[in-house]
Amino acid sequence: MSHKKVKRIGILTAGGDCPGLNAAIRGVGKTAIVEYGMEVIGFSSGYTGLIHKQYVELKEKDLSGILTLGGTIIGTSREKPFKIVTEDDNDKPELIKQNYHDLGLDCLVCIGGNGTMKTAHLLSKIGLNVIGIPKTIDNDVWGTDLTFGFDSAVLIATEAVDRLHSTANSHGRVMIVEVMGHNAGWIALYAGMAGGGDIILIPEIKYSMKSVISKIKQRYKHNKPYTIVVVAEGIEHPKNMSAARYLAESIQSKLDVEARETVLGYTQRGGSPSPMDRILATRYGAYAAECIAEGNFGTMVALIKNELTTVPLEEVGGKMRLVDHNHGLVLKGRKMGVSFGDD
Ligand code: F6P
Repeated sequence: MSHKKVKRIGILTAGGDCPGLNAAIRGVGKTAIVEYGMEVIGFSSGYTGLIHKQYVELKEKDLSGILTLGGTIIGTSREKPFKIVTEDDNDKPELIKQNYHDLGLDCLVCIGGNGTMKTAHLLSKIGLNVIGIPKTIDNDVWGTDLTFGFDSAVLIATEAVDRLHSTANSHGRVMIVEVMGHNAGWIALYAGMAGGGDIILIPEIKYSMKSVISKIKQRYKHNKPYTIVVVAEGIEHPKNMSAARYLAESIQSKLDVEARETVLGYTQRGGSPSPMDRILATRYGAYAAECIAEGNFGTMVALIKNELTTVPLEEVGGKMRLVDHNHGLVLKGRKMGVSFGDD
């Protein structure tokens, strides 16, 4: 198949940030410039920059020294240009289309999570050449086995769990660590298993307080002086407090034990990406540039069984990859005595 030679591409990062965004920008940009002689621009603050034509030219030298940096050098936002809140919002898709053509773009690379991919698909439906790159600490983008940002978040959360063991032991306490994940419990599952958590609670598996209490009691009965609970922020709990606070209060009201909570919050999204995230973001970025050169548009780059591939954006939008009840790590955890709060 013959394609018009691609000359100028735009990159944006949208949605919540995560470690590895700069590595991905660098991967796309350097490959596009060095290998294919393309020009690259970076839109400021996600889809906001695309609507308002705010961008910077990215030369090869601008992409040096950013591999290890956390955050995103071009900024991000949660702007959703197809969401109609006020009348002015109606104009956004048309503005984007106009800006894309005015700037002489041949392709737009959208780096983001589920919401970003949904918008990317809608942009490709109105005629733009779009390629998506999946990122998020939550690891919940449908169509890929892994998103970058996840490994770094698991590293940070695991270190926190590791550190809590000794202080929990000294005081004989129940320590509750809350990690991110509104819908998906990937971080809790991985950090919980990597850090030797005794109870792991995730949104996908319905827990009962009775089961949590019985596990803690059982541990004391077996002379285990403390208990570590790793919980995803999205488990069912009253909205006026964190999931961890709710668990701590509930446990203390039912057992004669001290319970303490630690909410990791945005520490999981900040700072330098792990080596594995740098590699994954670099692979995705470089592969996205290859897809552009081949004219493989309307797709998201993905990793399936450790092989790079693409999936159509229309299959990705609006879906979410959640932890399966029968996920191998859940089953292994259960066999080792880890409680998921449902037994
Ligand atoms: O999508 C990633 C994520 O980190 C979620 O796990 C978290 O709940 C959410 O973003 C918080 O995002 P913000 O406060 O930036 O909107």
